[in-house]
Amino acid sequence: MSTLNLTTGQVTTGKQSEPPYLKWNRNPAKPTIEIDPSWKAKNPYWFDQDRIDREQWIASLVKEHGWTRGAELGVWKGRTFLFVLENCPDLTLYGVDLWSAQPDNEGLEAYDGKEWQHKKFERNVRNKAEKFGDRAIIIKDWTTKAADQVEDNSLDFVFVDADHSTEAVRNDIKAWWPKVKDTGWIIGHDINWPIVKVVADELLPGYVIGPDNAWGRAKCLT
Ligand SMILES: C[S@@+](CC[C@H](N)C(=O)[O-])C[C@H]1O[C@@H](n2cnc3c(N)ncnc32)[C@H](O)[C@@H]1O
Repeated sequence: MSTLNLTTGQVTTGKQSEPPYLKWNRNPAKPTIEIDPSWKAKNPYWFDQDRIDREQWIASLVKEHGWTRGAELGVWKGRTFLFVLENCPDLTLYGVDLWSAQPDNEGLEAYDGKEWQHKKFERNVRNKAEKFGDRAIIIKDWTTKAADQVEDNSLDFVFVDADHSTEAVRNDIKAWWPKVKDTGWIIGHDINWPIVKVVADELLPGYVIGPDNAWGRAKCLT
């Protein structure tokens, strides 16, 4: 079982705790996260010394907690998927993406203003993931359907970052909830989007906010 202290933001999972090098300011009006500069300097996988992004945060959580199995829902260009695999050599990571246009997706299809080139992105991810061998498990499917291919209680974390509509985020969390161990974490992206936040508030109250609008919480609180 994991425990989240809502005052300090410390999460205890067995004997492990939230990374000591991440300092949370939990002021709800303006939450921030800081990283211990001395730790940052000696960690080569912190490639951008001035910026913390979702992929670094997830990699740091993986390392600190000793996680060995996780899933990313919504792989896109592979930014997080490839970074985390590269920097967490003990991790096996599922990457789930449809890599096809989704005309019915009310969340977003191309928030960066460019039409997403799914074929190119998929090819890029598959090519670059080859070097990780069995540690990279790519499932090209709807995120909720892909959950059927994953054993219950087998994951240390799931990173929910696919369709950002309220219903889809809720469905993804519900479909993948049984896959995550009781000691594991549900992590997501874009908590600054009200349509995402409403689900996080509903299903995972007490979540912590990480860099780059990432958010997450231990699945079970004691
Ligand atoms: C915001 S991007 C993911 C960004 C990525 N997680 C990262 O950190 O770089 C969303 C991706 O989710 C995929 N996607 C959206 N809805 C999906 C669904 N219901 N099932 C499978 N993939 C989906 C899209 O094809 C797109 O590549």
